[in-house]
Amino acid sequence: MNSTANQILVIFGASGDLTNRKLIPALYDLYCQEMLPENFAVLGVSRSEYSDESFREKILPGIKEFANKKASQEEKVQDFLDCIFYQSIDTQSVDDYGTLKTRLEEINARCKTDGNYIFYLSTPPSLYSVIPSLLAAHGLHKEGKGIFRRLIIEKPFGYDLASAKTLNKDLLKHFREHQIYRIDHYLGKETVQNLLVTRFSNGIFEPLWNSKYIHHVQITSAESIGVGDRGGYYDGSGALRDMLQNHLLQIVGMVAMEPPSVIEATSIRNETLKVFQSFRPITEEEVKDYVIRGQYTESTVRGEHMKGYRQEKGVPDESRTPTFVAMKFFIDNWRWGGVPFYIRTGKRLPTRATEIVIQFKETPHRLFKDVNGAKKANQLVIRIQPNEGVKLKFGMKVPGAGFQVENVDMDFHYSDLQNTYVPSAYERLLLDAMLGDATLYARGDAVEEAWEFVDPILKAWATRDDIPVYGYPAGTWGPEPVDSMIEGENMNWRYPCKNLADDGNYCEL
Ligand SMILES: NC(=O)c1ccc[n+]([C@@H]2O[C@H](COP(=O)([O-])OP(=O)(O)OC[C@H]3O[C@@H](n4cnc5c(N)ncnc54)[C@H](OP(=O)(O)O)[C@@H]3O)[C@@H](O)[C@H]2O)c1
Repeated sequence: MNSTANQILVIFGASGDLTNRKLIPALYDLYCQEMLPENFAVLGVSRSEYSDESFREKILPGIKEFANKKASQEEKVQDFLDCIFYQSIDTQSVDDYGTLKTRLEEINARCKTDGNYIFYLSTPPSLYSVIPSLLAAHGLHKEGKGIFRRLIIEKPFGYDLASAKTLNKDLLKHFREHQIYRIDHYLGKETVQNLLVTRFSNGIFEPLWNSKYIHHVQITSAESIGVGDRGGYYDGSGALRDMLQNHLLQIVGMVAMEPPSVIEATSIRNETLKVFQSFRPITEEEVKDYVIRGQYTESTVRGEHMKGYRQEKGVPDESRTPTFVAMKFFIDNWRWGGVPFYIRTGKRLPTRATEIVIQFKETPHRLFKDVNGAKKANQLVIRIQPNEGVKLKFGMKVPGAGFQVENVDMDFHYSDLQNTYVPSAYERLLLDAMLGDATLYARGDAVEEAWEFVDPILKAWATRDDIPVYGYPAGTWGPEPVDSMIEGENMNWRYPCKNLADDGNYCEL
């Protein structure tokens, strides 16, 4: 057992996909590591009718399939399930929150959880304002002496700047900022956190981490899957809202921030905010020069026919929602002045990989002319998923006559660590919320700042017909114009795998 305070985790949306695939399995993994509080309970809440027993039966297959820890010990699984309860309510009925309150009081008395509650909102976003206000109507938001009440909000946090501001305002009517945990599961990934350690615990990187030595930064987040049967939902969102505004900009925050004074929530989140405040705005007029959007089209991938986006279930024939976006932008501050950042993300790309590339500048004078790869020798590649690790590329002399230079790699893979368990992002983030540590959660002001940056892009796309939606065949690296985004002699995107032939659904760092 650890020192996490006794508490009840209330999951709204307990009958849904996220609870089944991520939240309950992550809790089970924490349980197996004895990291849950000594007295702990989960109360699942949604409209569907289940008893405690039938809800436990419903979630058991998810534990077996998705938990990292083996769920083969019947007794252990049963002990875990014993602390899980279920309450059906109409999530929009104020009276039903009275029922919820009574049920919480019962469980609290039975499990001795000291009156501490965390409310996890894993419902459609339309309920993100409603549920907190109905909780407050029954006083369930009020903290007391030694008693906490916290709110975890799933993504998406807003649909644009105006809706994100409204949501923040609505939440702050009842809860204080320190009670609100806005989840961005990318921040829970070990390799994203390792960025801070790579930068700030190694004397060799930080002195070079600036415009004097870095030519540009690339961030790629590729998915090989399409929208599947979530076309209806996805079409109201798209790659910019779904991936770039939140996950990728949070990674930019980690890559670009100044050293925080201490490793704790306020300090780190202040530095992230400063990065976002330094983004050079892309005006609506500039959007077509800095941002490229695309949609996958019908194709054959590894012999299998793939539908185009507009043929997917729930997607309108005339949809202009991007399944791919690439952007070039600048951070106007002392450290990054003039260094372009390139980010791209898309569905139905040749592989699944998320990585950061720090491309260093060439040496000031080229001694070794006419040699292979010497010009773009120094590259630091940080692989966030899969096959998490870090690779440093540099030039070495090829043995023999002359001065032939070849690029070689020095790399580290998390999988090489013996007996080291890498927790899932949800494990890490749930545990942090239970501990009251918001370091890896997005703060309201930073979320708004990120929306402020992408809002003109959304507006330009919605109103201007002269900005194309490029097609790209499923299984390729996006629309053709994206390749010419990275200017400069001999500079181009790093492809985690060059083409489909390299890779199944997994690719090496
Ligand atoms: N699934 C993922 O991998 C994932 C990843 C990141 C973020 N998210 C976010 O997490 C949230 C939940 O996602 P999900 O995939 O679990 O969704 P889902 O499978 O559609 O589940 C939604 C849940 O909300 C409940 N609900 C309560 N009131 C509702 C209402 N008025 N209308 C519709 N549903 C209502 C549903 O249960 P009842 O119908 O029984 O009430 C259900 O349990 C979403 O906001 C999503 O954007 C999901």
